[in-house]
Parts: sequence; structure tokens; C-alpha cells
Amino acid sequence: RFKTGTALTVIAVMMASQGLANEELREFALEMFSPLPSTVPALNDNIVTPEKVDLGKALFFDPRMSASGVFSCNSCHNLATGGDDNMPTSIGHGWQKGPRNSPTVLNSVFNEAQFWDGRAPDLAEQAKGPVQAGVEMANTPVNVIATLNSMPQYQEWFRASFPEDDDPVTFDNFARAIEAYEATLITPAPFDAWLNGNDAAMTEQEVRGLSAFLNAGCASCHSGVNLGGNGYYPFGLIEKPGAEILPEGDKGRFAVTETVGDEYVFRASPLRNIAVTAPYFHSGVVWDLKVAVEIMAESQLGAELSEEEVTDIVAFLGALTGEVPEVTYPVLPAETASTPRPTG
Ligand code: HEM
Ligand code: HEM
Repeated sequence: RFKTGTALTVIAVMMASQGLANEELREFALEMFSPLPSTVPALNDNIVTPEKVDLGKALFFDPRMSASGVFSCNSCHNLATGGDDNMPTSIGHGWQKGPRNSPTVLNSVFNEAQFWDGRAPDLAEQAKGPVQAGVEMANTPVNVIATLNSMPQYQEWFRASFPEDDDPVTFDNFARAIEAYEATLITPAPFDAWLNGNDAAMTEQEVRGLSAFLNAGCASCHSGVNLGGNGYYPFGLIEKPGAEILPEGDKGRFAVTETVGDEYVFRASPLRNIAVTAPYFHSGVVWDLKVAVEIMAESQLGAELSEEEVTDIVAFLGALTGEVPEVTYPVLPAETASTPRPTG
């Protein structure tokens, strides 16, 4: 009896210290990261209404927003496969290969700026890019508006979404509706439950991985709600990776600011859902998350992590895979005699 009692005491003490360790780790983690909010965040100059979200969803899935009638946003940001296309770099108009890997749209509303180089300040500004990009949807705003206006159902949806506007079918409103839809694409993960106080939400290995991630210094760049998406750093801060990973032609933020110090500077990538969005980096050449973590440790921190640390960090990154909102495939308005025909 005595022995059993001692054993129980030892276990109780161990559990208490484990609990304490968890509590300290959580406190520290909460200084670096924030759990996902449980509601859709407020947008700048764009009130989120159910009508607008539904319209944005239709636009997100409508391939007629591209010149060829082939590509929708969902082609490269497939909501069934982590909000990206799982290709090294995207295939767009005329089977052209784009220059960069497609980032996930999931939780993108929490990025402080959009694109690998942060050239769009928000999702509404961002949404105007791909429609016009020659290697993506190769369309023009005029043709998008003509397409939308040719379908009475779209006109009605725009009126319901922007009741205060006399002429609601505009390219700005097209982008606002898509932004409102994207703002609903948020994916609470085990890490959020853990941050919110649920010790059981992460496994021991995932918790060890979180410690390793913090100890190694990853969170000095990958912090905040999205564990990234909120700051710019040279890719190769300590040691430049090889040209296959960091192609010379893409100088990142330099193209935005034209400041010499911004050569090969990129946005620290948001890491939510990273386990389901291979391949990695803007060049999309690394398929193995373990390898991506090793490259980061060497190039950004000048550190060589142990095999165990890398495996644990990868396990922790797995705890960032969240629950994707249920998506019902939308039925889109039928085209009419005046709908512009596909080209190219
Ligand atoms: C980037 C949304 C169409 C490929 C992004 C980002 C968002 C987004 C939110 C930034 C994410 C981030 O920085 O974390 C959309 C929407 C589309 C659309 C709303 C439809 C209007 C497409 C299409 C393709 C594509 C059709 C492929 C042909 C890419 C690529 C990037 C990107 C390669 C990264 C580009 C860079 O950083 O320079 N998209 N996208 N997107 N998207 Fe799309
Ligand atoms: C990208 C993890 C440390 C800055 C990435 C990616 C991963 C990652 C997995 C690829 C994201 C994707 O393809 O979507 C880590 C880990 C770290 C770490 C586990 C610690 C061992 C850092 C540090 C910095 C940093 C300390 C800043 C000095 C960046 C940047 C990118 C990135 C700029 C984008 C690279 C590109 O242009 O392709 N990180 N990171 N990371 N990280 Fe880290």
C-alpha cells in the first residue's frame, strides 16, 4: 500500500510539473502567436454579409472569370487540397507555367500583405491581380464586367451584395466579394485548441516540436496568427541556398521597393496548413517538409538541428493543419447569348 501511494505521489508530482511546463510553454507561446479568432475578422472598407460571401464564392469557383473559360481561382487554390494546387509552380492560361508556387488562400485574410513579395496590401487588391495576369487568367476588367453583366443572376447577386451602389457590377466590387468569401476560409487547428488551454489537443511530440521551434528561433520570423505572413526577410539571411531553391531571376521584394537591400527578400511564409501544401518555397522545388525545415534552419539561422528536433518540428507543423470549412460546390448562373465567348 505504502509503495502504491508513493508511486501515485510521484506520478501526481510528475503530472503537476508536466502541467506547469505546459503552462509556462503556453504563456511563452502566447507572446509569439495568437490563436485563430472564432469569427470572421472585420475587413477594411468591406462589410461582410452572407449575400456578399455567397457572391464571392460563386466568383471564386467561376472559370468564366478567365479569358479561356478554363481557370477559376479554385484551379490554383483548390479548397479540396489545402487551398493551393500542389504543383511546383502554377499552370495557367495556355498551359503556361508561372514563375512561383501558389500559396494557400486558407487563412490568407490574416496575412499583413499578400503574395510572396507582399506586393498587394489586402485580399481585395490581390484578387484583381490573377484575373489580369497573362500567365494566370489572362482576362481584362472590361471583359469580366461584360461577362458578369450578361447574366441576370449575377446582376441580382451584385445588387443584393452592394445595395448602396447605383451601379454595383464593378471590378472593385468583384474583388470585394471575393475578399469577403476568402475571409471565411479559416481553419482552426489543434494548435489553436492547445493555445486556448486544452493540453490534450497536441501530442507530446507536437509539444516538443513547439519547444524546438521556439528554441531554434523560427518564431522570430514565423509569428502571429499565421506563424508568418507578417514580415520580410532575406531568404538566405545567414547562408544563401542554391540557385535551384532560390533562382537568381526572382529577386522577391526588390521588384516592389527597388531598394538594393531588398534583393532576395521574401515574406516569411505563413505556416498554417503547411503539411498539406507541398511543394515548398516560392520556387516550389522542395517536396519534403523535413527538408524544408532543415533548409530554413541552415539558411535563416545558421543552425544544424538534430534529427529528433527536425522530426519534432515537423510534427508540430502538423498540428497547424486545421479544419477546412465545409464547401458546397456552387451552381453558377447560366451564360446567355450576350456572354463573351472564351478566347485563347
Ligand atoms: C497568390 C487568390 C487565381 C496562382 C494568391 C494569393 C491569394 C490568391 C489570396 C496570396 C496568398 C498569399 O500571399 O499568402 C486568388 C484569387 C484568384 C486567384 C482570389 C481568382 C480571382 C489564381 C490562378 C492561379 C493563381 C488562376 C494560377 C494560374 C497564384 C500564384 C500566387 C498566388 C502563383 C503567388 C504569386 C506571387 O506571389 O507572385 N492568389 N488567386 N491564382 N496565386 Fe492566386
Ligand atoms: C519559408 C519553416 C526559420 C523566413 C518557410 C517555409 C517553412 C519554414 C516550412 C516554407 C513555406 C512554404 O513553402 O509555404 C521555418 C522553420 C524555421 C524557420 C521550421 C526554424 C527552423 C525562419 C527564420 C526566418 C524565416 C528565422 C527569418 C530570418 C522565411 C522566409 C520564407 C520562409 C522569408 C519564404 C522563403 C521563400 O521565399 O520561399 N519557413 N522557418 N524562417 N521562412 Fe522560415
